[in-house]
Amino acid sequence: MHRPNRRGFLAAMSGAVIGPGALASTSPARSVRYPGDEHRGKCVIASANGLWKDGTGCIVQAMQLIDEGADPADAVVAGVTLVENNPDDHSVGYGGLPNEDGVVQLDASVMHGPTHKAGSVAALENIRSAAAVALKVLKHTDHVMLVGDGARRFALRMGFKEEDMLTEEARQAWLKWKRNLNPKDDWLDDDQSDFPPPAHSRIDPDIPFTYGTINCSAVTDDGTLASCTTTSGLSYKIPGRVGDSPIVGAGMYVDNEIGAAGATGRGEAAIQSCCAYEIVRAMGEGKSPTEACLHALERVADHTRQKRLLNDKGQPNFGLVLYALRKDGAYGCASMHPGYRYAVHDGVTARHLNAPALFE
Ligand code: GLY
Repeated sequence: MHRPNRRGFLAAMSGAVIGPGALASTSPARSVRYPGDEHRGKCVIASANGLWKDGTGCIVQAMQLIDEGADPADAVVAGVTLVENNPDDHSVGYGGLPNEDGVVQLDASVMHGPTHKAGSVAALENIRSAAAVALKVLKHTDHVMLVGDGARRFALRMGFKEEDMLTEEARQAWLKWKRNLNPKDDWLDDDQSDFPPPAHSRIDPDIPFTYGTINCSAVTDDGTLASCTTTSGLSYKIPGRVGDSPIVGAGMYVDNEIGAAGATGRGEAAIQSCCAYEIVRAMGEGKSPTEACLHALERVADHTRQKRLLNDKGQPNFGLVLYALRKDGAYGCASMHPGYRYAVHDGVTARHLNAPALFE
């Protein structure tokens, strides 16, 4: 068992939250520790890319739709669709980094609290709106998950348009990765070539792999919940690799009696510890949203046993950020390591907040 420095976590365990009716009855009176503990009423929470520098973006769009009376599943999908359409976000939708063959494969899922229905697509090619396709699966089929070519053909039948998802910038980043992958193959590494590397890409070459994603959950004033996660997945992945984002219970989960949760970061870890489900389950036991996220991260740390995934302190060496929204509007987030933020719209303002870390 890992016994990490969990100062924040252990303090939080004696700290406090007033839950929704069903939860409050089983929770002892405790003091509030995190900003989202006290919030009540409608709320939208997302990963940091859910709010752009100009004050617009996913959470603003989702909250606007909720204010107009939209179902929260429609609202969160409309919100993340903005991010899928943004070519500057290289972790989601159009402009996402491709797999090792240079093909963008998208994963997404959405879950609707009142019906407890879920829809999901994985390894979807040539369609940019993976979240909207997942919502069509939810609304118009008796299935939960469509993958690969079946998902693409379903999307075409639903009226989505096919297009090449690989932007020039993402293609250049992929080629750079490919050139520099193996010093002994027939691709000349950039420092072996007599010619300058082609077209500059703004994608940081020092980050060879990225797991970026967007998760967005929403709750209305009457406690109706939904959550959605969408991603281009791990950059330069083995073709066909599916991460946590389309896996119900890993990349997102909703129980309309309790709350919603989602994950971004290393999908393999979120799958292996059923992170989103575990967060919702822990909230159902009376943990605050942030406590529940820290609890799920601790489970991940405890179950990370491969040496190559541990740093010199024995802590997981990867990033994982978890997000939680309770039925009464309380919200929270936590990350494995410091330095991560999340985005929240509390019905009045949209802002970024720092995520407490399991390992301070
Ligand atoms: N969390 C995104 C992925 O691992 O694919």
